[in-house]
Amino acid sequence: MENIDWKNLPFGYVPTDYNVRCTFSDGKWGPIEVSDSEYIPMHMAAACLHYGQEAFEGLKAFRGADGKIRVFRMDENAARFRRSAEGIMMEPLPEEIFCEMVKKVVALNTRFVPPYGTGASLYIRPLEIGISPQVGVKPSKDYMVVIFVSPVGPYFKTGFNPTKVCMSRNYDRVAPLGTGAFKIGGNYAASLKAGEIAHDKGYSVMLYIDPKEKKYFDECGAANFFGIKGNSYITPHSDSILPSITNKSICQLAEDLGMTVERRHIPIEELETFDEVGACGTAAVISPVGQIDDLDTGRSYKFGDGKPGPKSTMLYEKLRGIQLGEEPDTHGWNVVIEEK
Ligand SMILES: Cc1ncc(COP(=O)(O)O)c(C=O)c1O
Repeated sequence: MENIDWKNLPFGYVPTDYNVRCTFSDGKWGPIEVSDSEYIPMHMAAACLHYGQEAFEGLKAFRGADGKIRVFRMDENAARFRRSAEGIMMEPLPEEIFCEMVKKVVALNTRFVPPYGTGASLYIRPLEIGISPQVGVKPSKDYMVVIFVSPVGPYFKTGFNPTKVCMSRNYDRVAPLGTGAFKIGGNYAASLKAGEIAHDKGYSVMLYIDPKEKKYFDECGAANFFGIKGNSYITPHSDSILPSITNKSICQLAEDLGMTVERRHIPIEELETFDEVGACGTAAVISPVGQIDDLDTGRSYKFGDGKPGPKSTMLYEKLRGIQLGEEPDTHGWNVVIEEK
């Protein structure tokens, strides 16, 4: 792909050659279909358009040091996609079909997998929608799953450099017993206002506080939150956050590297005691946070000296190393895609 500036790619949509689709109708999933259209024909009364029956995923494929293409932890995304569907009464896509579709869509678009050493990757976006035409509020009968891909660069403009975030008790992304643990469009619609307020004030994202007690950190925009204190990696335990696959992987790597992992409530008062803080996710990878401003109190918390902290750097390098095939994949997280 001679006309793509791989090193300066934003995190955005780039058209590719093909997407893959699978439809559930008459009570069963059909065959996996390959499409070269960027559009989905849909009835104007489709359930997803009115009552938000939509779930999605986000995972990545990387071109490794050895030239091979690896997809990171797709079985975990398959399981979360199923849980999200079940959470909003959609027909769950069997995990083996999800994995087959991911392998197929990457194999069909290998020329869009960014070269090794550019820092870019191929973002894989599965989505499921309720497509039955209906007007009453009830689950759709028929569903469509589409998986498309797009080469992407870093999510935060700063890349692996400290970013600035803000927090406020005045915005909730989800309800305490709501749908926060599912990756569904409605949660993101509900977060757009707070996200834009954060951007307008010059911050990368809004750091959410738990919606029930307003005492604990929840998550950091579309990424999980973590703090590092001494040799401990501390990350929120909360039912209102998305269980991040990146965070789960980092917890494992932190343990492998001899750190202590704590998954628990993190009270706001604890923030000043952290040596390093950051956000993590498929898109964010590990993004160090250098400053958190509390919009309600005017208080500002600063971390580090403008550079990523040593523990965040160690974890980042380990994670990237595995994804790029530079480090042994001891936990069997990568699936290598056969190139035709
Ligand atoms: C709200 C939210 N939290 C956390 C994450 C990070 O999850 P993962 O590491 O599985 O990408 C994401 C992105 O998927 C997200 O949208």
